[in-house]
Amino acid sequence: MTQIVNVVLGSRSYAIHLGEGLLPQLGVLMAQVLRGRRVLLVTDNHVSAILGETVTVSLRGAGFAVSRSVVPAGEASKCGEQLFALYEAAKQAGLDRSGIVVALGGGVVGDLAGYLAASWLRGIAFVQVPTTLLAMVDSSVGGKTGINLPSGKNLVGAFHQPALVLADLDAFTTLPPRETRAGLAEVVKYGAIRDAQLFQTLEEHTAVFSRPWKDLDAAGRALFGNVIARCCAIKAEVVAGDEREESGLRAILNFGHTLGHAIENASGYGRILHGEAVAVGMVAAVRLSARLTGLPEADVARLEKLLVALGLPVRAPGLAWTDLRAAMKLDKKSEAGVPRFVLLKQLGESLSGCAVPEDVLEAIARDLGT
Ligand code: NAD
Ligand code: GLY
Repeated sequence: MTQIVNVVLGSRSYAIHLGEGLLPQLGVLMAQVLRGRRVLLVTDNHVSAILGETVTVSLRGAGFAVSRSVVPAGEASKCGEQLFALYEAAKQAGLDRSGIVVALGGGVVGDLAGYLAASWLRGIAFVQVPTTLLAMVDSSVGGKTGINLPSGKNLVGAFHQPALVLADLDAFTTLPPRETRAGLAEVVKYGAIRDAQLFQTLEEHTAVFSRPWKDLDAAGRALFGNVIARCCAIKAEVVAGDEREESGLRAILNFGHTLGHAIENASGYGRILHGEAVAVGMVAAVRLSARLTGLPEADVARLEKLLVALGLPVRAPGLAWTDLRAAMKLDKKSEAGVPRFVLLKQLGESLSGCAVPEDVLEAIARDLGT
């Protein structure tokens, strides 16, 4: 069954279509919301080989002229070099202001192609077709686009909302299990920051979320689909309330990301997956919360237990505190070099923009990184 979650943002509103067997409908759905007919399809080499043809056939069938650009899979492609190659491809494809960028892939492709769309001709339409769990529940929704610099993650970027998001759950059939687990970290995040019932559902059904998609029965797939839809609904609600991360509401989505981004940076992008780094970052955040905002120790234990049950790391051994601290200073969430954290008052209730005592942070980070 297809579920539709609406992101309500006035003239920038759009729908997230979520379900099985949706990819062949992409062209028809795009034709309903966009007037342009020239498409640059941006994907990576893994996803291109698996889904590129299905998407191209769907788009051509609905009357779109399609050019395809394929970047190497992996975080390293979220860089200036690939972006500039895509500008050339956009030129070659004849993308004028009615042109459309379609991002087919995970968060790397979504962020990179989204920033291409945000900056080409000062902004053209784009469509997100997320193919990882992380991209479905997080990166494809909300309009954050951008690339990394050698000195830091996502340092160049823009808010640019997609015109449509289409998430076909069949993509999980080929998604490597490690990538599915990494996406589950962001799912846990939504429960922790905003929905204690969702958190409990995850705890009660870890066996479903740990099983390969192909081995799930109809009930398991329905449960998984409902959880993804709930995550999208939470993200939609938060983004609708604070699109450009100005009031502090949207910043709660950064739960686990302050230390998480530092772990990704200090370990060299790509070695530890984004979701894995966020998992360790969430452990740090709940430990900080137990010290600073009164989160019960039992809830700290629940989060760690859930992450372990889902096969996620709760420590990142071998990283130097000095490297982590240097990375946090550069992070976008820092103010005058002071890192800001999202802390929990209780499971399901979060606070953003929290400065924390340096010695407490160091002790917790050293413990998680040794
Ligand atoms: P990714 O895009 O690197 O994809 C992970 C791997 O899975 C890649 O090798 C890819 O080729 C492969 N893959 C993707 N779909 C597949 C499929 N269906 N079958 C087989 N293989 C498939 O990683 P990701 O975890 O999706 O995204 C991480 C990125 O997202 C990071 O750069 C992070 O900063 C960004 N992000 C952005 C936001 C945002 O709001 N914009 C939010 C969270 C994360
Ligand atoms: N992933 C954080 C955000 O979209 O704001």
